[in-house]
Amino acid sequence: MEIEKKSHKIQQKDSNLFLSSLPSTPMAFLLVLLFSFISKPTTVYSAGSASFIPQDNFLIDCGATNAANSPDGRVFKTEPQSSQFLQAEDDFKVSIPSADVPSPIYLTARIFVKDATYSFHMSHPGFHWVRLHFFPINNNVFDLQKATFTVTTNKYVLLHSFNVNNTNHAIVKEYLVNITDPQFSIKFAPQKNSAAFINAIEVVSAPDSLITDTATNLSPVTNFQGLPSFAFQTAYRVNMGGPLITPSNDTLGRTWVSDAEFLKNKNLAKSVTVAPSIVKYPEGGSPLIAPPMVYASASEMADAKVDQPKFNVTWNFDVDTAFGYMIRLHFCDIVSKALNNLYFNVYINQNMAIADLDLSHTMGALATSYYKDIVVNTSMMSNGLSVQIGPSNMGSGDLNAILNGVEVLKMSNTVDSLDGEFGVDGRQENPGSRRGTVAAVGFAMMFGAFVGLGAMVIKWHKRPQDWQKRNSFSSWLLPVHAGDNSFLASKTSVGSHKSGLYSSTLGLGRYFSFAELQEATKNFDSKAVIGVGGFGNVYLGEIDDGTKVAVKRGNPQSEQGITEFQTEIQMLSKLRHRHLVSLIGYCDENSEMILVYEYMSNGPFRDHLYGKNLASLSWKQRLEICIGAARGLHYLHTGTAQGIIHRDVKTTNILLDDNFTAKVSDFGLSKDAPMGQGHVSTAVKGSFGYLDPEYFRRQQLTDKSDVYSFGVVLLEALCARPALNPQLPREQVNLADWAMQWKRKGLLDKIIDPHLVGAINPESMKKFAEAAEKCLAEHGVDRPTMGDVLWNLEYALQLQEAFSQGKAAEEESKPSANAVAAAPVTPPVDAATSNRLATQPAAVNNVQGEVEDVNQHSGTAMFAELANLNGR
Ligand SMILES: *[C@@H]1O[C@H](CO)[C@@H](O)[C@H](O)[C@H]1NC(C)=O
Ligand SMILES: *[C@@H]1O[C@H](CO)[C@@H](O)[C@H](O)[C@H]1NC(C)=O
Repeated sequence: MEIEKKSHKIQQKDSNLFLSSLPSTPMAFLLVLLFSFISKPTTVYSAGSASFIPQDNFLIDCGATNAANSPDGRVFKTEPQSSQFLQAEDDFKVSIPSADVPSPIYLTARIFVKDATYSFHMSHPGFHWVRLHFFPINNNVFDLQKATFTVTTNKYVLLHSFNVNNTNHAIVKEYLVNITDPQFSIKFAPQKNSAAFINAIEVVSAPDSLITDTATNLSPVTNFQGLPSFAFQTAYRVNMGGPLITPSNDTLGRTWVSDAEFLKNKNLAKSVTVAPSIVKYPEGGSPLIAPPMVYASASEMADAKVDQPKFNVTWNFDVDTAFGYMIRLHFCDIVSKALNNLYFNVYINQNMAIADLDLSHTMGALATSYYKDIVVNTSMMSNGLSVQIGPSNMGSGDLNAILNGVEVLKMSNTVDSLDGEFGVDGRQENPGSRRGTVAAVGFAMMFGAFVGLGAMVIKWHKRPQDWQKRNSFSSWLLPVHAGDNSFLASKTSVGSHKSGLYSSTLGLGRYFSFAELQEATKNFDSKAVIGVGGFGNVYLGEIDDGTKVAVKRGNPQSEQGITEFQTEIQMLSKLRHRHLVSLIGYCDENSEMILVYEYMSNGPFRDHLYGKNLASLSWKQRLEICIGAARGLHYLHTGTAQGIIHRDVKTTNILLDDNFTAKVSDFGLSKDAPMGQGHVSTAVKGSFGYLDPEYFRRQQLTDKSDVYSFGVVLLEALCARPALNPQLPREQVNLADWAMQWKRKGLLDKIIDPHLVGAINPESMKKFAEAAEKCLAEHGVDRPTMGDVLWNLEYALQLQEAFSQGKAAEEESKPSANAVAAAPVTPPVDAATSNRLATQPAAVNNVQGEVEDVNQHSGTAMFAELANLNGR
């Protein structure tokens, strides 16, 4: 036996690899579903032809000095090769020379007396296998039978106060974790006065097709959407009627055990086996879902034709009933001699899971693989887990029923734990708000499939006055198209959180209970409605000590499902900026989809420009608002690694707070901007009057589309009229066209807001109008970036301030000099050089000096911001 003590420091490497890889879209998931469930099969895979090369493939043989091959031929990294992944303080490597172990990876282990973390830099987002191998080898550092410890990832609790419980064989804990962060860590935390240990770790990409987005909820029978927002632990993986299948015989390294030990009554079932080569996969199906060996064997009813011909075959599984489960049932009709001869039912926990299943009809052929995912939420788990098959009353064929395989996957709970009721950050699960139920019900609402919710839909119908009320304050969000969800959009993940706690680690803001929000909005009083939109109403509410908030409550009939809602929270939660309306929190209790935003008391910018008879804003105020909005958009475009296109820039989406600080709202149409090339979008989104003509023509979406719309906003600020006004003579209808005509004639000042006449510095206006004109260039490539626009607006503001100061000085000293020349103005820096400056701290310092007199919203803050953004 060897013992070695060592310390490690983590090495973090930066890689942009992950940026190039987007996860498969739900559309792809849908296609997989369609193909695997609906379409008639044509065999695309013959048995055994599956291959899969995982993009991420970390295999660590902890404590090993010599390379070890697992029996399935995979090579695990030795200690020197893997030490870069480990950060630990007091740790020991132990090994035994030889033992009766199933794999050489169990000959060594690492023991941790203090918290230790393995970190991996992932190249691909998506589901990954995480396998932890434990074998309590004998050593004189610590009695591993007594080691009790907790294992967590950055997000999930995998094992809580885990102990091998006097077993003396290898224990493999297998998880499927949807990794959305490029840095993935696994932490081992020993209990006080105890130790943690690990023999081997696997973190390996799983195929995207393995976990689709949807399943079927057991009871009530509804579609269940959002599987990727859960982590799973394999509780059981069983090959009915067949032998043990080891990782060597499964492309994905899975183990399938035989079903004998789970059968309630062994006499009621018998095995049937065919050659694996007979098994066909439907189009879009794949041996990756389950290898041919699984489908080539089944358990069927024993002696189904004797005295009591109808009975069920039952399997019981011992599970932790505090969790919900995803049950994957595998079928392949290897028993029938003819089509439409076998009809049977499948029950889970005494509830009908699949009724009158005729595999030959479903798949259009015999011996063709089929699987179905059923979600069993905790409310259905009180008596453990049973799976039953029995003949149905349909058809006149054989009285029989079959099952080829079952996977029982434990689903993470509301606090992202797979073991115990506490989350990584100490949050405790609230038994009243189990996530499985919530998501299922949310989805049911979308499709109106769940009759019980009819009452709720009717309730909403009965409040037409809310829907007719039109207030222009609109900060709700339309669906973010889940299909365009990028890695970054899913970086921060969503869960339900215990009421009142701030989930600082996830950055999702605060979790509100429904009761809290009822109170905050006086039970969603129609008098509190400050906005109405496709998604639902926006209410003014008061929380805590009277802090005002805007509460956006999802309309149950909205197209936006729980998944999109969560995507939206993810999108919003990664966007934090002084000039973006910030999300304070959310509520997803009882199938509610509610977002809570900071309240913008002065409403939309547009209301202060025209149509509302509000006090007119000064030119300086308008400039500051435009600068704020530009800054918000600049952040959207550049502040995240990939950039985000707002897609609906307009004066109603620029909101003003108490101090008239501008904040961009409504990222509902936002998309992550692809780097380099334009995004080809299927449907043009946005608002007329603001639409980029190039985007309209070519459906190419770039951040320059926002720049175009912002040009229209600038003209609105200057001319105080709507972007489109159909009541006006034809040539005046479109503000952009009309104003640019005047600009080209050099007579723009003829159509500006009358309130500004005389109060606006002609130079400032000129600069401003030039910026607007550039924004409105026909071709995106000719338009400036938001950063460039920002500089021009800053300059326009300085010119205006110098003008005002000059005027004030003039008032004091009473000489009648030329006002414009009164104060010297330094242009900030030419726009073209701004990017370079922003990335060079020294240059930034110089510039700071030059603009420091600009008001608090501008100047130094901006440069710091630019520097930060570019530095990311
Ligand atoms: C499992 O795979 C091995 C190696 O590929 C093969 O020799 C063996 O026959 C397979 N086992 C079964 C039960 O098919
Ligand atoms: C099979 O099990 C289901 C659910 O537990 C039950 O409703 C049904 O009556 C059983 N069928 C037979 C024939 O026992």
